[in-house]
Amino acid sequence: MIISATTDYREAARRRLPPFLFHYIDGGAYAEHTLRHNVSDLSDVALRQRVLCDVADIDLSVTLFGRSLGMPVVLAPVGLTGMYARRGEVQAARAAAARQVPFTLSTVSVCAIDEVQRQSSAPIWFQLYVLKDRGFMRDALERAQAAGVETLVFTVDMPVPGARYRDAHSGMSGPNAAWRRMLQAVTHPRWAWDVGIHGRPHDLGNISAYRGAATGLADYIGWLGANFDPSISWRDLQWIRDTWKGSIVIKGILDVEDAREAVRFGAQGIVVSNHGGRQLDGVLSSARALPAIADAVKGQVSILADSGIRSGLDVVRMLALGADAAMLGRAFIYALAADGQAGVANLLELFDREMRVAMALTGVRTIAGIDSTIIAR
Ligand SMILES: Cc1cc2nc3c(=O)[nH]c(=O)nc-3n(C[C@H](O)[C@H](O)[C@H](O)COP(=O)(O)O)c2cc1C
Repeated sequence: MIISATTDYREAARRRLPPFLFHYIDGGAYAEHTLRHNVSDLSDVALRQRVLCDVADIDLSVTLFGRSLGMPVVLAPVGLTGMYARRGEVQAARAAAARQVPFTLSTVSVCAIDEVQRQSSAPIWFQLYVLKDRGFMRDALERAQAAGVETLVFTVDMPVPGARYRDAHSGMSGPNAAWRRMLQAVTHPRWAWDVGIHGRPHDLGNISAYRGAATGLADYIGWLGANFDPSISWRDLQWIRDTWKGSIVIKGILDVEDAREAVRFGAQGIVVSNHGGRQLDGVLSSARALPAIADAVKGQVSILADSGIRSGLDVVRMLALGADAAMLGRAFIYALAADGQAGVANLLELFDREMRVAMALTGVRTIAGIDSTIIAR
């Protein structure tokens, strides 16, 4: 078992959430090999212990896309976050704001972008999927721009949805899913009271704002499933480059050639990611893919990385492998599901402390000082 700041929150989330939601968060594609390797490859990265380096003043701050952040961490886009905690997107964004780190709102969030913007002071990034309905994409870009979003995260590793068999077993999908979800909700009264009753509406805020009609979980699965666009290519994205005024971060890069293509496209950032092992099982873990990508494009584009980060120590490992900043997915979602805003705030505090210890014992004082020389070969 891997002991990390997220282990306890994961267990608490398992107890609190109806199983269909817990497994939706926790699961990955097919046999979940990549999901497991994301975590184990990262935790296998050994660091060089250095001593007597005067590490009295450790500074975690960084500048990313012209903004100063309290630590090199961004909360990743996670769909349906408002189903894991009451108005979950707002709670997570508030915890992010307190730490001066960005919160990324998923296309398929429960809270719409203006609700999150109104109710928190976090720097909000907006994540967009490539969807067949280009009208929706244009509308979402306009709403994000109007809400003051400066950074667009464009997720490109979902031309088709991955096959996640846990969802069929858990009641998220499959036969009698609606009945099974109902039964699970009533047998998890804390969640039912907090989110099921008081966390309404359970819309997909950004999508219902566009379609002008309430949407729910069934619509989410139906609309999204029908709307992923497998025909998309780099050329088709030019209009986004021309439309969006701020920074563009391409999320879902795992190959050196694609990283170079993102630079040619004019992206300001990439996220080295396999979607937390939720898309193609059997692809490389982010930890293994990252060093070659960093060799190819470091300095030309900001490199973020996610998939498998479970502690502040893991953040330092990702930076040592070549990332400029890390994105947290399940780590913050487990904390949110377990204890709402306070859980995410505490998780970020623990990450902060773990990063400081890792930096002190590898002899670095600044984030810029973390590079491959701190890895033990
Ligand atoms: C429940 C869940 C929902 C997700 N929804 C989205 C999404 O809507 N958009 C997106 O770009 N990535 C989504 N992701 C992927 C995350 O942004 C991130 O890449 C991934 O969680 C990183 O892996 P980790 O959770 O192992 O750290 C989702 C991940 C999870 C676990």
